[in-house]
Amino acid sequence: MKQNDSSSSQALTRRTFLQHTAAAGTVVAGLSTGLSKRAFAANERLGIGVIGAGNRGNSHLNALKHIQDEDKSIELRAVCDVYRPRMMKTAERFDIQGYMSHEELLADPSIDLVTIATPDHIHGYQALDALRAGKGIYCEKPVTHWRQFELTKTLAKEVAASKGVFMCGTQGMSDTAWRQIGAFVREGMIGQPIHAECGYFRVGDWGEAGMPIDDPEAQPGADLNWEAFLGDSPKRDFDVSRFFRWRMYEDYAGGPCTDLFPHILTPVMHMMNAGMPSVAVATGGKFRYEEREVPDTFNMLVDFPENFTVAVLGTQGNDFQATESRGSASRIPVIRGWDGALTVSDDKIVFTPAHGSNKEKQIFDIDRGENMLHFFREFIDCYRNGNTDTISNMDLAYKVQTALIMAYLSLKESKVVRFDPVSESIIL
Ligand SMILES: NC(=O)c1ccc[n+]([C@@H]2O[C@H](COP(=O)([O-])OP(=O)(O)OC[C@H]3O[C@@H](n4cnc5c(N)ncnc54)[C@H](O)[C@@H]3O)[C@@H](O)[C@H]2O)c1
Repeated sequence: MKQNDSSSSQALTRRTFLQHTAAAGTVVAGLSTGLSKRAFAANERLGIGVIGAGNRGNSHLNALKHIQDEDKSIELRAVCDVYRPRMMKTAERFDIQGYMSHEELLADPSIDLVTIATPDHIHGYQALDALRAGKGIYCEKPVTHWRQFELTKTLAKEVAASKGVFMCGTQGMSDTAWRQIGAFVREGMIGQPIHAECGYFRVGDWGEAGMPIDDPEAQPGADLNWEAFLGDSPKRDFDVSRFFRWRMYEDYAGGPCTDLFPHILTPVMHMMNAGMPSVAVATGGKFRYEEREVPDTFNMLVDFPENFTVAVLGTQGNDFQATESRGSASRIPVIRGWDGALTVSDDKIVFTPAHGSNKEKQIFDIDRGENMLHFFREFIDCYRNGNTDTISNMDLAYKVQTALIMAYLSLKESKVVRFDPVSESIIL
């Protein structure tokens, strides 16, 4: 294990940080100037740092370790977390450097790529910092929190201007079904798109099983940085439930809309070739679980200026799947156009012509299902090749997050929410 304690700067390391960079023979360019990545040889291993050592951060490390062992294209090098016991356990498990802050991890020149798996309200700031430090970024969904539209916009603009490599962690985008349908829509198979329906139904995620309280006696201090956890959220006294079960609270999360819908709305907006939304309305609320702040049931309708609607339904109170599932809990999207509809049935893509259309029904094989390893490999390849057009890029994440924020605000404020494309702002 390697640990770097920000308070004592004591590194308990198998290899020290300096040995690490020396062994890699790196030329560090860009940390001081920002927005430029380190120079590396074509076959050199890229260094990985994971920000957030909770449930998802450990899933990232497991998947990336598989890639490290299999093709040696990367090397796991560091993890950070504001809660020392998790950071140390993870650093030990993967035999990597441990840091207590993302700033320290980003200052580590042996790190080329970072994955961000912290609570939702932290993502955007850490992604911006990583971008400015010249790192490639794989950032978990949702890309920001529902009260952070301006941050989302800033991140989108900076990613575009810097030509940084950014991938949003909506791993369903690795499923070729959505890419194939997207290509069919762009080729004109369904004619003018007019409507899409989809949904996400999952139970759990925040109770004892989903978000255990590691230590009910935990307190802020050298081993738990409460201020860093709070980020830009309202300042509050330490609360062990808020820290470990942040998904229950509006300051840090948003229920199905922001936690689950990015998984399905991202592919749907990709398939529809959607731009920025124009109008959003939502219904729902806390229909089952009184002990949480965020809604457990959420239904949203979003219109787009290209004259189509996307409907997304979901509850965390019942996870019955009306149709066979693609991805863990998603309701299979149906994409409708003037000339016909596209969906997935029995693991095939099915095109059904509209009444009166002279087109034929068609059935297509799907090349590949959702695959986390493939998704990470695509991200790594993009970074290595300087390809900024990742399949789940920031431009798409910005549009999706804007729709989600508009819908969340619609429910919260009981209003129809509009987007003004001229001022690029949300109108309540
Ligand atoms: N793509 C997916 O399928 C998927 C699945 C699960 C979670 N996620 C996403 O991953 C993120 C993390 O979820 P989780 O279930 O792992 O939560 P978690 O609570 O298990 O882990 C989050 C970790 O971040 C740490 N942390 C908090 N603030 C920090 C900061 N400022 N800097 C560094 N570390 C900080 C916490 O101490 C905690 O260990 C969420 O945004 C969630 O939406 C995505």
